[in-house]
Amino acid sequence: MATTLATAAEGAVAAAAHAARIEHVSKSFSGPAGSQLVLDDISLDVAPGEFVTILGASGCGKSTLLNLVAGLDRPTAGSIETAGRPALMFQEHALFPWLTAGKNIELALRLRGVPKSDRKAEAERLLELVRLGGAYGKRVHELSGGMRQRVAMARALAQDSRLLLMDEPFAALDAITRDVLHGELTRIWEETSLSVLFVTHNVREAVRLAQRVVLLSSRPGRVAKEWTVGIPQPRRIEDADVAELSLEITEHLRGEIRRHGQH
Ligand SMILES: Nc1ncnc2c1ncn2[C@@H]1O[C@H](COP(=O)(O)OP(=O)(O)O)[C@@H](O)[C@H]1O
Ligand SMILES: [Mg+2]
Repeated sequence: MATTLATAAEGAVAAAAHAARIEHVSKSFSGPAGSQLVLDDISLDVAPGEFVTILGASGCGKSTLLNLVAGLDRPTAGSIETAGRPALMFQEHALFPWLTAGKNIELALRLRGVPKSDRKAEAERLLELVRLGGAYGKRVHELSGGMRQRVAMARALAQDSRLLLMDEPFAALDAITRDVLHGELTRIWEETSLSVLFVTHNVREAVRLAQRVVLLSSRPGRVAKEWTVGIPQPRRIEDADVAELSLEITEHLRGEIRRHGQH
């Protein structure tokens, strides 16, 4: 009994030390041309409350890595631990079109085990948090692209996870809407104790949002380099120091693409 308690306590300490711990993860897919190594020996920790972006060229394995962290697929080698079950948000909102904004969120609350009597008030609170108060009864087709991603964000937050995984969630939005949602995400991250692992191919977006930018190489995806971003929030995508660091990172990304092109 004492041993069990000690193990549980150690587990809690380990879980508190990292929101995610990715250790020596590799992933291969087998296809007609044989086995393709997509991710090669990736190690990366996300601290509690940390905001990390994974940046890389299209096809370098970003979504593959995020899916592994989400537990949607298994690594070929290595291990991944997360503090609880992560919440997910993709480029496509994946809301149920036959449900209202409010009911989409309530579904996530139901899956989390929130009692029926509390769900409506909680859904309304989450809609307020993403500044969509009043959209409770709206159907998905009545909402703009930006509003849909706000609902998707509220639904992800409804899962009450400690880790939010985001796969290019704003890539399909126009620049102005994206800019607004960057601000909202930063505000929500600051207001909560969430850890965020955010995937993008957009260098400026990575620098605009993150405390740490991790650059992946292509074919196979490896951690090529990482940067700590010390620029204080709120940042803007057009800030001079955001632009300057983005330029430096872009040079490295170009190097990765050139190196890959020669192979
Ligand atoms: N389920 C799968 N089966 C086979 N190949 C896959 C699968 N998922 C991804 N890939 C391959 O892995 C590589 C990386 O894909 P992906 O992770 O989607 O890249 P990114 O998100 O960085 O654009 C691509 O070459 C893709 O074709
Ligand atoms: Mg992808």
